[in-house]
Amino acid sequence: MTTDLGPLIPRNRDAHPPAFDTGYKTSVSRSPKWPLLSMESTPSEETGPRFGHSVLGEHDNNLITNWTQGKELAVGERILVHGRVLDENARPVPHTLVEVWQANAGGRYRHKKDAYFAPLDPNFGGCGRTITDEDGYYEFLTVRPGAYPWMNRGNDWRPMHIHFSVFGHSFGQRLITQMYFEGDPLIDICPIVKTVKDRSQIEGLVAALDLSKARPMDFLAYKFDIVLRGRRQTRFENKLEGM
Ligand SMILES: [Fe+2]
Repeated sequence: MTTDLGPLIPRNRDAHPPAFDTGYKTSVSRSPKWPLLSMESTPSEETGPRFGHSVLGEHDNNLITNWTQGKELAVGERILVHGRVLDENARPVPHTLVEVWQANAGGRYRHKKDAYFAPLDPNFGGCGRTITDEDGYYEFLTVRPGAYPWMNRGNDWRPMHIHFSVFGHSFGQRLITQMYFEGDPLIDICPIVKTVKDRSQIEGLVAALDLSKARPMDFLAYKFDIVLRGRRQTRFENKLEGM
């Protein structure tokens, strides 16, 4: 049996933002100084355990309830974030683990190194996970994360954003990116976003307001499709080529 994989769309290797960008101060010390080496994957990376539906809890894709297991609700503007994981030919990628982490509504992470004086929400952890369905579809209910200041130049702020991780068919295939919100004026002045030089690629990281999925008197919705490779590939932080 043969499977129609569709045409192979060449990658544009010049399109990825440089790892070294003086506007993003941390990249100066974190970026590699030597050419990268391509390493063979190890057996444990290819055959190691993967997450499946059996380990997902009832509240795992609901960040409003998962920290308290439904006993209390997180504070903030309720939103649904949804979309599909797609391959380069817009085919769905089913059964893949999607994880998110984010600041709370005040712009603070539940992390010991986050010293921002916005208060922690006792009912909000900031992490969630789900597995795509047969159509590659995922969704999270959460609160809109606050913008937050960070140590870079004098007065830099991160736009509202949600961090995303997507796993492929093995543990060694992990892609990480950030999702922004349509209409946020901080996107265009963020030094991290500015490392992406191509406007259309930045737009690929911005979730559109999607009233078709909003629930009246409950939550707004934002749509964010993740494309794993090809010309329409979502920009990932940790891998030039995607999967
Ligand atoms: Fe962040």
